[in-house]
Amino acid sequence: MCGIIGFAGKTEAVPILLDGLERLEYRGYDSAGVATISADGRLQVKKSKGRLSVLRELLDSQNPLSGNIGIGHTRWATHGEPNDTNAHPHVGQERKIAVVHNGIIENYLEIKNSLIRKGVVFSSDTDTEVIVQLLEYYYRKKSDLMDAVYAVLNRIKGAYAMGILCSDFPGQMVAAKKDAPLLIGYGKNKNYIASDVTALLAQTKTVSYMEDGETAVITADGVQIFDRDRFLLEKEKHLIEWDVSAAEKGGYAHFMLKEIMEQPEAVRKTISPRLADGEIVMEELNNASELMKNISRIYIVACGSAYHVGMTGKYALERLLHIPVEACLASEFRYSEPLLGESALVIVISQSGETLDSMAALREAKRKGSKVLSIVNVMGSSIAREADYVLYTWAGPEIAVATTKAYTTQMTLLLMLGVYLAKQLNGIEQEEYAVIIRELQDLPEKISVVMNDPDRYQKAASRYFNHNSVFYIGRNLDYALGLEGSLKLKEISYIHSESYAAGELKHGTISLIEPGTLVVALATYEPLVEKSLSNIVEVKSRGAEVIAMTTERIVSLIESQASEVFVIPKVHSLLQPVLGVIPLQLFAYYVALNRGCDIDKPRNLAKSVTVE
Ligand code: AGP
Repeated sequence: MCGIIGFAGKTEAVPILLDGLERLEYRGYDSAGVATISADGRLQVKKSKGRLSVLRELLDSQNPLSGNIGIGHTRWATHGEPNDTNAHPHVGQERKIAVVHNGIIENYLEIKNSLIRKGVVFSSDTDTEVIVQLLEYYYRKKSDLMDAVYAVLNRIKGAYAMGILCSDFPGQMVAAKKDAPLLIGYGKNKNYIASDVTALLAQTKTVSYMEDGETAVITADGVQIFDRDRFLLEKEKHLIEWDVSAAEKGGYAHFMLKEIMEQPEAVRKTISPRLADGEIVMEELNNASELMKNISRIYIVACGSAYHVGMTGKYALERLLHIPVEACLASEFRYSEPLLGESALVIVISQSGETLDSMAALREAKRKGSKVLSIVNVMGSSIAREADYVLYTWAGPEIAVATTKAYTTQMTLLLMLGVYLAKQLNGIEQEEYAVIIRELQDLPEKISVVMNDPDRYQKAASRYFNHNSVFYIGRNLDYALGLEGSLKLKEISYIHSESYAAGELKHGTISLIEPGTLVVALATYEPLVEKSLSNIVEVKSRGAEVIAMTTERIVSLIESQASEVFVIPKVHSLLQPVLGVIPLQLFAYYVALNRGCDIDKPRNLAKSVTVE
């Protein structure tokens, strides 16, 4: 959550900070701020509640901040309501030091109270302010900035990525990281820090990833990175492959719509490097039989939509590998005493690769001796770096808070993984394997077919956007799909929505169905279509309005029972949810559009959830 950008160069910092913050705004958008050090050594700060546009107006209407060095922040509030005072950067009472921070300082109250006893006056409700007040306190005592930084890092507990400016060192910026992402960007006579690679795409593609416990001193002319014992490190530099245009709207009304439309290409890029001569190849795994040796169960661990991918994976991988597979919410996983150890393989799925709960689950699994395979979109992210094996989804940058192309690529890749392992372990018939390979090749084209009729989804959305409550029902893979369809709708349109296994409805929830209730019935999983049909009839006979989604092969069975029907091409049942999610994404998008919602930045949310 929250975004950090920092710049040290020979040109004005503020335009670069604002550009970076604009690209980071999807990480948090309840307030924003910047700090610079002017040529005459003054520390200057401007910050405000609200979107970045408010900060821009403030900077335009007042004296602009000058200076060739600066830090910026976009906030998703944890401690203290979103207001001007709680916005970052925070400044110490002597106004010498400014700090931007992502993460949570868990022992902030204890530090705050002890500083208050020493006469320090706090101005905000945030945990972050203790960092800067403590820094000024130690700096006063030690008169060496880095000594003070290390003293603070030794004292605070919790997660942090931070950028620090001190007016006594007008040409340098200091950075520190633990359990929250931070990277260094390199340019000519200019260098950067950022919490997220998208913030830097327009400036540089050469980066180093900071590791926990590291600090950095950044000037226009160079970067020094130190380990926790203050030894200078030689850090590897990486080249970012994403293009800056991929993180821009490119004429679309919303990033979400652009990202929905990018799915054929994203899925193609994810599939094609892993198909050769009619076989699935996964070079990243080296040796599949080694990976699966002694494995008797699989946990798929993730949050939100990535967890829904895990639910699909549970059905698919159990069928393909004939071992128990459990899909787990990462936030529950590490507190539920899972049966970890050498016989469990843990698959962690994450678009950002930075989700704290998923990261914690990964560490717990490794600590208990399990192998961890991650499916991640952001290259070089923490989850990708710490897993034993990583498979990248090549979705490109995903900016809209509601995930779309990351979800479809994760699902495609997880299914490919299942089929690949089944083949390596002789668990799949050659005939079925060949069908799946052929259909994988055709999948991007079929996604385009589903998308190319937006009128259907627009029409349904304009008919139903005023509903207050929507149920999604389905069985097996359709149930997993319903979870995602329901989440898409509620997160961007704020309509209450629930997803139920269709057979479970009559065990309680059906009492909520009354005349006019909207039910989105998913009937694409052909082996259970008759049973799904019975469930549709049950809700219909209680007055529900039904939107049904089904395949072209069985539409005649379903259509008489529904007010609207979304028809998708029939593919192998394991690949069907990749097509099935597209109408649900578009329906949610158009409903939210009809309701005038802020689609790319829904209230209370942030793209990357780096707090527990
Ligand atoms: C879905 O639209 C959400 N943005 C959210 O549920 C997301 O999938 C979840 O927070 C996990 O994020 P990750 O993939 O970056 O780990």
